[in-house]
Amino acid sequence: MELTTIFCIFLSFLSILLLNLLIKTFFFFFPSNVKTQLPLPPGTMGWPYIGETFQMYSQDPNVFFATKIKRYGSMFKSHILGYPCVMISNPDAAKFVLTKAQLFKPTFPDSKERMLGKQAIFFHQGAYHANLRKLVLRTFTPEAIKTLVPDIESIAQNCLRSWQGKLITTFLEMKSYTINVALLTIFGKDETLNAEDLKRWYYTLERGYNSMPINLPGTLFHKAMKARKELADTVAQIISTRRKTKQEHNDLLGSFMSEKAGLTDEQIADNIIGVIFAARDTTATVLTWIVKYLGENPSVLEAATEEHESILRCKEESGEEMGLNWSDTKNMPLTSRIIQETLRIASILSFTFREAIEDVEFQGYLIPKGWKVLPLFRNIHHSPDNFKEPEKFDPSRFEVAPKPNTFMPFGNGTHACPGNEIAKLEMLVLLHHLITKYRWSTVGAKNGIQYGPFALPENGLPMTFYPKK
Ligand code: HEM
Ligand SMILES: *[C@@H]1O[C@H](CO)[C@@H](O)[C@H](O)[C@H]1NC(C)=O
Ligand SMILES: *[C@@H]1O[C@H](CO)[C@@H](O)[C@H](O)[C@H]1NC(C)=O
Repeated sequence: MELTTIFCIFLSFLSILLLNLLIKTFFFFFPSNVKTQLPLPPGTMGWPYIGETFQMYSQDPNVFFATKIKRYGSMFKSHILGYPCVMISNPDAAKFVLTKAQLFKPTFPDSKERMLGKQAIFFHQGAYHANLRKLVLRTFTPEAIKTLVPDIESIAQNCLRSWQGKLITTFLEMKSYTINVALLTIFGKDETLNAEDLKRWYYTLERGYNSMPINLPGTLFHKAMKARKELADTVAQIISTRRKTKQEHNDLLGSFMSEKAGLTDEQIADNIIGVIFAARDTTATVLTWIVKYLGENPSVLEAATEEHESILRCKEESGEEMGLNWSDTKNMPLTSRIIQETLRIASILSFTFREAIEDVEFQGYLIPKGWKVLPLFRNIHHSPDNFKEPEKFDPSRFEVAPKPNTFMPFGNGTHACPGNEIAKLEMLVLLHHLITKYRWSTVGAKNGIQYGPFALPENGLPMTFYPKK
C-alpha cells in the first residue's frame, strides 16, 4: 500500500477516535438520566473513553470479572471499549436482563452488523424479530429435525473417515463438519451445486470478522464485505431457481421463502448468513472441548464407550437397519451430560451484550439509559454457589437439574438460541461414531486457551486419529 493511503487511513481513524472521545467525555460527565436519586451499582469507571478496557484485556477477561465480583458483588459497573456498562453474575438478575426485552435490547458493533447483514435476527426486536424467530424455530423443532438424522450421520461418517491416520487440527475439522450440517439444514441435501461456492465465500467472510473495520481495497474487512455480497448473490440464485420449480422445501430457506413469511430476498440472505455464523464456530468449539475433556478423563470416556456400544449391540441383535435414528439419540443420557458439562465448564460464550432502552431501576440501583449490560454466563457457570468444585469436569453433576437460571449456555428469553436442539443432535451423532470407531491422542497437549472470539483449546487442539482395531 502507498504511504499516502496509510497516512489517510491513520488520519481518518484518529479523527473518528477524537470525535468519539469528545462526545463520550461530555456524556460521561453530564449524564442525561432523571432517576439520578438512585445510586449506580458499585465499581470503578477508569478513565473517560478508555475506561477499564486495558485492565480487562491485559489479563484473562474472566480473571478481571472474578476480581471485580469478589470486590463489588454480583452486579458492578465498569467502562469498556468506550461504553459505560453494568456486569451481572447473579443468576436471577441475568435472567431478568435476558427476558425483559422491553427494557434491554441486543447491541453489536456497527462493523459486525454490516458484515453479517443489518437485517439479521440478532440485531432486531419487536414484530420483525418475532416473525424471524418463528420462521427459524419451526425449522429446528425436534419434530422437524428428527428426519435429518441419517443425513447428519453420513456427514459425520465422511468427516471422520477423512481424518484417519492423520495429524489434524480438531477445531478446523469440526468446523468443516458443522458447516456441512448447517448447509444441510438451510438448503436441504440436494443443494450440492452451490455448496462449494457458499463455503468458499463464507471462509473469506469469516477471515475478516475480527479484523479492523476499514473498508479499503486490500483489507481483510474489504474482502469480507465483498464475500458477503457474493454469498448474498448465490443465495439469490438459489431462491430464483426454487421460485421457478415451485417445489416445497422443509429447510430453513423454504421457511424463509414461504408466502406468509413476507421477507425480501435481502432479508433472507442476511438471515441465512447470520444462521451459518451462529451455528458453525459455536458448535465446532464445543465439540473440540468435548474431545479434549474425554481425552483427559479416561473413566468418563470408558463409560461413554459402553453407552454407545450398547446401542450398537441392540442394533446388531435386531438385525434391521443399522443407522442411528432419533430415538437412539434420546437414549444417550451420559453423552448428553458430557455435552452439558462441557457447555458449562467451557462456557464458550463467556458473556453477551444488551443495552438499556430506558433508565432501569434494579435491586435498588440505577442502570442508566444507553448503558451496556453484560450477563456473565461464564462466571455464573463457574461460581461455587451454583456448582460444587466448579473447575472439575464432572458430567455426573447433571444427574440432578441445576438450580434455576444457573445454567444458560444457550441464553434465555426472547433471543435464546433457536439452534440448541440441532446443536445437541449433531454433537451426539458425531460423538457416537467417534467414540465407537476411533481412538485419538492429542499432540503436545497443553492447557492453554485462546480466544477467537470463543474460548478454544490452544492451537485448535491438534491430534492424531486412528480407527479402532
Ligand atoms: C453449541 C452450540 C451453540 C451455542 C453454545 C449457542 C449459544 C447461543 C446463545 C447463548 C445465544 C443467545 C445470545 C444472546 O442472547 O445474546 C444464541 C443465539 C442464537 N443462536 Fe445459537 N448457539 C449454538 C448453536 C447454534 C446453532 C447450531 C444454530 C443454528 C440454527 C444457532 C442459531 C442461533 C441464532 C439464530 C441465534 C439468535 C437468536 C435471536 O437473536 O433471536 N445457534 N446462541
Ligand atoms: C430406532 O432404532 C432402534 C434400534 O437401535 C429400534 O429399536 C427402533 O425401533 C428404531 N426406531 C424407529 C422409530 O425406527
Ligand atoms: C429459561 O429459563 C427457565 C428457568 O431457568 C427455563 O425453564 C427455560 O427453559 C429457559 N428458556 C430457554 C429458552 O432456555
